Amino acid sequence: MQYAYHDYHPPTENLLGEVLSGLTCQPKRLSPKFFYDAVGSRLFDAITRLPEYYPTRTELGILREQGDAIAEHLGHDSILIELGSGSSQKIRVLLDSLRPTVYIPVDISSEHLRHSASNIARDYPDLQVEAVCADYSAGLQLPDLPVDTARAAFFPGSSIGNFEPAGAVSLLRDIGRDLGPGGAMLIGVDLKKDKQQLDAAYNDNQQITAAFNLNLLTRINREIDADFDTNRFEHRAFYNEAEGRVEMHLMSTCTQNVRIDGHRFRFEAGETIHTENSYKYSVEEFHALGAVAGYEAEQVWIDPDGLFSVHCLRVCR
Ligand code: AVI
Repeated sequence: MQYAYHDYHPPTENLLGEVLSGLTCQPKRLSPKFFYDAVGSRLFDAITRLPEYYPTRTELGILREQGDAIAEHLGHDSILIELGSGSSQKIRVLLDSLRPTVYIPVDISSEHLRHSASNIARDYPDLQVEAVCADYSAGLQLPDLPVDTARAAFFPGSSIGNFEPAGAVSLLRDIGRDLGPGGAMLIGVDLKKDKQQLDAAYNDNQQITAAFNLNLLTRINREIDADFDTNRFEHRAFYNEAEGRVEMHLMSTCTQNVRIDGHRFRFEAGETIHTENSYKYSVEEFHALGAVAGYEAEQVWIDPDGLFSVHCLRVCR
């Protein structure tokens, strides 16, 4: 077993600073990257198994179906970097066909990462696993790597949709710099579709998505000195067709004050904290975004129902 763990995780002060500045904004907002503490990561795993939440199983179906074709594009013996590796479920589908020499799972949730990365290292004893705990949205920090080995990135789950389009461009451009000219990026992107299906995917009957959204407040109460009453906020999610994104909010059910680290924040009844955007892209829109970030569109695979896309992009030489 070849396994190393690198902790580049941001310190807790980032949470306090970002919460104070996000709640000072009008409208109030919090970054979705804070969803993923240990509880949030487990809730997200539960979301991926919900009947209404089609992206995970659909993307997995594409990866299973197209594994050999994907390997032809990404090549073998590469250094494979996975952004937002979570439970590392998807990479397992690809490892046998891709046969990388080094696998670098990058995730913001340390507990989740340690568990899943060490399991991969145990199950693939010839694979060098270099787990990186980091906030990749703040720039990708990687351990020392051989310079002469081809690099590829795997960015599944349509996590790119959680960035504003301009932020998505700069993130893809930064990763492209790490991959180098000719480097390949395999990226899952949720497709635009009818509002009813999108609204259902983020408003599941079991209310797991609601618990995931509200856990953000519980986390803030626990990790910084705050007194959110989670019974006085409700989950709201809807597809904003004009913006091409699903929005998640936490709505205050009454007029109330919340104290955070000695600061007082007033909420009107019905006022929301905007907690997440999940942009949906047509194939053409995503190709255009990739081009601005310095990539050529090489291949796209789509499921038979036209729900989800997996792109192979190539860093321009
Ligand atoms: C991680 N990300 C791609 C998910 C999404 O669909 O935007 C997060 C999520 N939020 C609510 N449900 C799932």
